[in-house]
Amino acid sequence: MWRNWRDALDRQGFASPALDAKLLAGHGLGLSALDMALRENEPVEAGAAERIAELMQRRLTGESVARIIGEREFYDLAFTLNGATLEPRPETELLVDMALDALPQGGRLLDLGTGTGCIPIAVLVNRADASGVATDLSAGALAAARNNAERHGVSERIGFRHGSWFEPLVTSPFGGEVGPQGRVRGPSSAPHREKAPSPAGFAVDLSPEGRGEERFDLITSNPPYITSAIVETLAPEVRDFDPRLALDGGPDGLAPYRVIAGEAGNWLKPGGRVLVEIGYDQGEAVAGLFQAAGFGPVVVHKDLNGLDRVVSAHHV
Ligand SMILES: C[S@@+](CC[C@H](N)C(=O)[O-])C[C@H]1O[C@@H](n2cnc3c(N)ncnc32)[C@H](O)[C@@H]1O
Repeated sequence: MWRNWRDALDRQGFASPALDAKLLAGHGLGLSALDMALRENEPVEAGAAERIAELMQRRLTGESVARIIGEREFYDLAFTLNGATLEPRPETELLVDMALDALPQGGRLLDLGTGTGCIPIAVLVNRADASGVATDLSAGALAAARNNAERHGVSERIGFRHGSWFEPLVTSPFGGEVGPQGRVRGPSSAPHREKAPSPAGFAVDLSPEGRGEERFDLITSNPPYITSAIVETLAPEVRDFDPRLALDGGPDGLAPYRVIAGEAGNWLKPGGRVLVEIGYDQGEAVAGLFQAAGFGPVVVHKDLNGLDRVVSAHHV
């Protein structure tokens, strides 16, 4: 019966109608790809046929197979998705390869805008000696990331913090974590610090004392880097289903890199490194931001398609 759906998807111009139809039918029936092949001539009961029809209708509206199934493979690991997470992309695997090379023995990693947690989790699964922290502005994305860390057995070695870029790393004057709007998010186990709040509320304290013990060997990020105007023109599968917060990098697509380049030096150990994913046409601009912030050497790395994909910046 999946063949009827394959034909329907084909007629609508989907790129891989047979694969999509088989995966969705298998999901609706609760069967693996192998079981699907072995049992494909068995009749399908009415309830299952209805379930499959619903899944196929979602596909016909442009929702991706991974989003419908609720998970996507990345670095040979399955990551649970939810409405607040970007689907991990294969091109981001280069960042994981480079992070694995860059992280020293026993190294600490900070991942900014972690989404499903795919970058730090893939690193920690492959490096039992490493540990880290990941932040995201989306509480929903962090829920998925925590779930994925449990799923892959690394939750003991990674902490998830809610807030904008580096903000949730800063300890408040009263020992709580500073939230997305700079408000204290309740007491934590962080040591109490006797510091007067600023007139505007709770100061973001970037002094070495305010940072506590928190320094990292490596900072990674695949931030939103698409210019706001271009987001509107993306394929419906991305524009209508990936969260806007995960895509939109501001008017010139560089807003997150300005924050990361400007602040990363405060959080790195001496000799530490930053690795950020970039859009194919952003190499020069992003490298320039890190150079202007005093990093060096700064190198733009290409992906397997020969496109600029990762900027690496050394903290000197
Ligand atoms: C392009 S997605 C990347 C997600 C994941 N790292 C990956 O590679 O699949 C960017 C992520 O940055 C998060 N984000 C957007 N603005 C942020 C901010 N100001 N602070 C922290 N995270 C932010 C989004 O919620 C999203 O999860």
